[in-house]
Amino acid sequence: MLVRRELAGDEAPIRAITAAAFARPGEDVPAEAPLVDWLRASPAWIPELSLVAVDPDGGVAGHVLCTRGTVAEAPVLALGPLSVRPDRQRSGVGKALVHAVLGAADARDEPLVALLGSTSYYPRFGFRLAGEYGIIPQHPEWEEHFQVRTLTAYDPAVRGQFAYSEPFDRM
Ligand SMILES: CC(C)(COP(=O)(O)OP(=O)(O)OC[C@H]1O[C@@H](n2cnc3c(N)ncnc32)[C@H](O)[C@@H]1OP(=O)(O)O)[C@@H](O)C(=O)NCCC(=O)NCCS
Repeated sequence: MLVRRELAGDEAPIRAITAAAFARPGEDVPAEAPLVDWLRASPAWIPELSLVAVDPDGGVAGHVLCTRGTVAEAPVLALGPLSVRPDRQRSGVGKALVHAVLGAADARDEPLVALLGSTSYYPRFGFRLAGEYGIIPQHPEWEEHFQVRTLTAYDPAVRGQFAYSEPFDRM
């Protein structure tokens, strides 16, 4: 498996993998699938931070992206959705994607990456509860799952209210 940037033609496999990874009983298409398309069409999109994991046969096994968010108006990154094809889960694809996107974000001198996600998965990549950094999620009920990974360019003055880009409001 290799990790590379998203290329033209990856849109449909990414949509399919996102829909499969987030499939919930009784829901036709999970909101995370169109969200990736909305983000791609929005000013929050950062092409070099949309990465796919590709199997030797060329099939896409997983996808991760970071898009522009803000903390009290300062530009930061928001990670997600992160999706691994169900038949490839628990084989290190998610791990490879998260490490790769954090490295790419660090190389861009981004200060930090925020996400709403499992506190049993993301701390292994250095994520901590956002409250430790004085960063406040959009909704108080997110507090126990809203996490931040600081990068080399992190400045502790970046604190306050976090906001996702507009497409997340459509979910
Ligand atoms: C969560 C997800 C991205 C992890 O990717 P993956 O390739 O399956 O995971 P990896 O192989 O990198 O890591 C496996 C480890 O993650 C843990 N893990 C997998 N999914 C998890 C989840 N939803 N919550 C917590 N831990 C999880 C496994 O228990 C395993 O732990 P271990 O190393 O201690 O045994 C993937 O399972 C997925 O796409 N899930 C559905 C969509 C989703 O929930 N996305 C994330 C939203 S925050």
